Amino acid sequence: MEVIISQDAKSASDKAARYIADVITRKPDCVLGLATGSTPLHLYNRLVQMHKNDGLDFSKVTTFNLDEYLGLKPEDPQSYHYFMFENLFSKINIDPRNVNIPDGMTDNVMTFCNYYERKIRESGGIDLQILGIGTDGHIGFNEPTSSFASRTRIKTLTRETIQSNARFFGNDESKVPQHVITMGIGTVMDAANILMLAFGKDKANAVAASIEGPVSAFTPASILQMHRHVKFLIDEPAAANLKLSDYYKWVYDRKPEWNRWL
Ligand code: GLP
Repeated sequence: MEVIISQDAKSASDKAARYIADVITRKPDCVLGLATGSTPLHLYNRLVQMHKNDGLDFSKVTTFNLDEYLGLKPEDPQSYHYFMFENLFSKINIDPRNVNIPDGMTDNVMTFCNYYERKIRESGGIDLQILGIGTDGHIGFNEPTSSFASRTRIKTLTRETIQSNARFFGNDESKVPQHVITMGIGTVMDAANILMLAFGKDKANAVAASIEGPVSAFTPASILQMHRHVKFLIDEPAAANLKLSDYYKWVYDRKPEWNRWL
């Protein structure tokens, strides 16, 4: 696990964008796992800029989004479909046929979830998964006590997540769907590489529990300690509760030249 602490969310996101651009340049038909929420917004802006200014080419890239609210139509501004097209897909040259987002309007959740899993497998698997983290340590919508072996499935949100996501629904908790489809923790862990982004003091507890706490289903993101290629790109406020933050900075400052592209 590599923990990279940046001054602010913008510089951490710039690093993430450079990392993704490098993956796409090395493997133009790579498979990316994507996240929503406020955290990846600057990253997506940077990728759009890189596409427009530097010709970063998404034409062969395939994407799989982590999750979607059940009951929201793709054209609903609160849906993750809408979010992804608004903030990224409509601004880059991705082929819409290569975009995969869980179907929040499916009338058969189990069949859809099995199909989604199969499609990820048939694509060759996810080369790089982008993650954010919930204040309760969730990844995707895998709430505390989600099985580490879980696959794409329906989940019921916690009150904490409903309250924290109400800001996207006019601060009206009653408008936040209580059910979602999410990739499972097992699905996420199958990705070859994982980039976790976490910004702001509200994430400090979840970040510390994930990186330095015991591996426990109570903190879903703590399973990332068991992944071979995971990087946490976090800002100073999100790093506030880490015991070893000086060590992580020490390590980063001493990265060998050939590995310093971040
Ligand atoms: C939602 C998403 C997660 C995201 C989390 C954090 O619950 N399902 O994928 O990481 O929110 O959101 P934010 O980035 O807005 O803090």
